[in-house]
Amino acid sequence: MEYAFFEGKIVPIDEAKISIMTNSFHYGTAIFEGIRAYWNEEEEQLYLLFARQHYERLLQNAKALFMELNYSVEELVNITVELLQACGIKEDVYIRPIVYFKDLKLTPKLIDYTPEIAIYTYKFGRYLNTSKGIRVKVSSWRRNDDNSIPSRWKVAGAYVNSALAKTEAIMAGYDEAILLNSEGFVSEGSGENIFIVRGGKVVTPAMAQHILEGITRRAVINLLSKELIIEVEERPVARSELYIADEIFMTGTAAEVTPVVEVDNRKIGDGNTGEITSKLQEIYFRAVRGFVDRYKNWLTPVYEK
Ligand SMILES: Cc1ncc(COP(=O)(O)O)c(C=O)c1O
Repeated sequence: MEYAFFEGKIVPIDEAKISIMTNSFHYGTAIFEGIRAYWNEEEEQLYLLFARQHYERLLQNAKALFMELNYSVEELVNITVELLQACGIKEDVYIRPIVYFKDLKLTPKLIDYTPEIAIYTYKFGRYLNTSKGIRVKVSSWRRNDDNSIPSRWKVAGAYVNSALAKTEAIMAGYDEAILLNSEGFVSEGSGENIFIVRGGKVVTPAMAQHILEGITRRAVINLLSKELIIEVEERPVARSELYIADEIFMTGTAAEVTPVVEVDNRKIGDGNTGEITSKLQEIYFRAVRGFVDRYKNWLTPVYEK
């Protein structure tokens, strides 16, 4: 049986329905998150990855849209654990919390409305091809600017920009898009942050480059520093740097660590997953499933042992 958290209760998924008149449905004024939980077969345990960090970001973003929820980060993590237990999940899943204005009113504003949170889960394997890598296209669409709809917030309406870029890339025969920002520098993918490797150095667009403050991005910066002894440089990245990079990879909760093997028909490195990307993938994939003791603090176990 599948369940959702809806209007304060865990209910069968079929009962978690909103009206077509729901305010946020019309104006994209919803804040959402994407969280993964990984099944560890050996331990028969399901591990939520970075649950606290995702709910902290959700509450911060919601606050920015004047959506004050009556839940703390701890309560939201606990509700998610209860939901996964109720569903009896024993495989990899994706969890989608979403905060929206439930009022049946038609004015695009952020005040005098009532925020609500819903959480549901769905089965989720690989989002992009993490083994072979992906081919990406620099999009003709620019990333939405911090002074229009901030990319820093996971706000539903901003994802029209991602959808336009991703669709353009797929229709042109690529797997994913890279968006430049309004200043013409590299920002990120439609749902991923981006890193480039050149001469053993790793660079990623800085926070002010109109990007989402990725939780995987931060974790990967730490992994590179602690495990591979490489300090990541955070700075503006030019489009031309992409084409001459030795390695490129993208990170995200859904994308995990995905190698980019081609950009705009130029092979990256020799067209295969690079050495730094491989090493990073190796440690990341073990850590998220609970196989690396020193990174167990990333995880929240769902089942009591
Ligand atoms: C536009 C965008 N950039 C980056 C990311 C990666 O963020 P995170 O690592 O927090 O999942 C996502 C995914 O949530 C995203 O939608």
